[in-house]
Amino acid sequence: MSNYHIKHLEEYYQVYRESIKDPENFWEEIAEEHFLWRKRWDKVLSWDFKKPDVKWFEGAQLNITENCIDRHLQIRSDKVAIIFEPNNPDEEAEHITYKQLHERVCAFANVLKSKGIQKGDRVCVYLPMIPDLTVSMLACARIGAIHSIVFAGFSSTALSTRLNDSDCKMVITSDGAYRGAKTLDLKTIVDEALETSPCVESVLLVKRIHSDIKVKEGRDEWVQPLLDRVSLDCPPEIMDAEDPLFILYTSGSTGMPKGMVHSTAGYMVYTAYTFKNIFQYRENDVYWCTADIGWITGHSYIVYGALANGATTLMFEGVPSYPDFGRFWQVVEKHKVNQLYTAPTAIRALAKENLSFIEKYDLSSLKVLGTVGEPINVEAWDWYNDNVGKKNCPIVDTWWQTETGGIMIAPIPYVTPTIPTYATLPLPGIQPALMDESGQELKGNQVEGRLCIKFPWPSMARTVWGNHQRYKDIYFSTFEDKYFTGDGALKDAVGFYRITGRVDDVIIVSGHNLGTAPIENAINEHPAVAESAIVGFPHDIKGKALYGFVILKEVGESRIHDNVRKEINQIIAEHIGPIAKLDKIQFTQGLPKTRSGKIMRRILRKIAENNFEDMGDISTLLNPEVVQDIKDNCIE
Ligand code: WT7
Repeated sequence: MSNYHIKHLEEYYQVYRESIKDPENFWEEIAEEHFLWRKRWDKVLSWDFKKPDVKWFEGAQLNITENCIDRHLQIRSDKVAIIFEPNNPDEEAEHITYKQLHERVCAFANVLKSKGIQKGDRVCVYLPMIPDLTVSMLACARIGAIHSIVFAGFSSTALSTRLNDSDCKMVITSDGAYRGAKTLDLKTIVDEALETSPCVESVLLVKRIHSDIKVKEGRDEWVQPLLDRVSLDCPPEIMDAEDPLFILYTSGSTGMPKGMVHSTAGYMVYTAYTFKNIFQYRENDVYWCTADIGWITGHSYIVYGALANGATTLMFEGVPSYPDFGRFWQVVEKHKVNQLYTAPTAIRALAKENLSFIEKYDLSSLKVLGTVGEPINVEAWDWYNDNVGKKNCPIVDTWWQTETGGIMIAPIPYVTPTIPTYATLPLPGIQPALMDESGQELKGNQVEGRLCIKFPWPSMARTVWGNHQRYKDIYFSTFEDKYFTGDGALKDAVGFYRITGRVDDVIIVSGHNLGTAPIENAINEHPAVAESAIVGFPHDIKGKALYGFVILKEVGESRIHDNVRKEINQIIAEHIGPIAKLDKIQFTQGLPKTRSGKIMRRILRKIAENNFEDMGDISTLLNPEVVQDIKDNCIE
């Protein structure tokens, strides 16, 4: 028996040691015993971080939906796979069994085929958190089409950029979305995006809010009548282990968002294994991850990892504040949720509200509480522990990235001791390394450096879509023969890891990864703007919020300034999405620059934090005099 499910700390250390000594054997045993293969692999792993080239389970054949659905039909046919909790608490929840999920995925897959979608084609899914989102992504996987899910909060420009980058042939969207008291007009956003995305041939429409939308003849089609006409059976396309399963875009510090490509077998094995261990999932548990499926957290831990374990996974369409701040707790009580996985930004927002919102509900079903997306501060950790877990549920602070596909460093609940703000220990198979600036690995404990991973793991992204060089440059060129995460971390006296935050120009706002470059490019589109720089500053709820320093072409009056501020945020909302709007905008005459012309963000960050002591060495600046001026006019 492989050590699929770890139950004690000694067992963890033992399994971890084995997984490092012989990673091939470790993953091979897990792959062998827990999944359905159409053909066995010839080789467990081949890799070269110089190229970089990583292959897991080469030669194997499988279909991930067979693993996530079909194989459960014998024993879990009537078990609920998906609980759908709608935005409006008065609308009835939907319970979709494995058998029903099988039929819905097969039917949707047959519709995709009837519309000419073939293995390897890219299909964009731009849907709210409704069952059709999960069904359509699995339908793509069923026939070997590569899904590219775009979070339905992104603007038309952001959507169009992503459609074009991966040459999507189809978009699946809806007549709109419910979001708290509001509705979102997704179809109009898609229509706008398609004006600049000629690669898209067809649009499938899911009915959700029954709004009156334009249906473009020859391009758009309602999916329901098509679903009614097709067979409820669709044999799975047999895929190679390394065939791409999906593309998911993530922002970086420079340039276009990167289309991270995840492949099939390794991703399946790793997300399933980590789901089982991190959430200690047992057969009749109800598991709820509050993320949107548009992010990697939803891909790996609402859909693939959960379904591969035959779990019951809850999808929530709404927001934590609707109809009031008790909604999360009402959902936990209603569906007797056993594992809750959410983000620090949600915890902080809820912690601000009156405790009566939480005390009304019975949360005794909860066994494990998870967090992800950014470092969790001690206050939020304590609040989560005291008021949600009632000091009885381990908190698993899970560190990972879109690029890693699955959770990398996290406590195993009821196994690893938890410490606020610590992601604690690497999971079996994960070999972290902390590096100093000169590229040396800092060995031993009580060290702090840049976090790298020095050995491949099954769910690592294989490339950036259409740009392998970029993949190499961003992740494998900073430190030789290592994957560089972009994060800093420290290891305490006993070897527990604490993630200290990004060391590059990525800013995490409410758990959303935002690169500085795309936002600055958007700001610079404003006709009055000459140049701009944005940095993050601490924010009670969002973790970090954005502060923009903007140089105008001509100095104007304050009335005009206020208009420009509004317009800048409008442009950002159009180009990226409302999540990237700036909280503070300071107009300035200059930006601190090095002699090579690089903006010194370190200084701007201090000013944005209103921390004027210890500005560090500014003597290397080309224009040290601007610093005083920026300080004098900074926004508190
Ligand atoms: C970045 C990745 C992985 C799903 C959500 C975010 C930060 C993530 C933690 C954590 C401290 C964290 C890192 C990472 N991050 N989880 N538990 N503690 N920081 O995915 O959008 O790809 O962002 O989020 O900075 O690099 P993502």
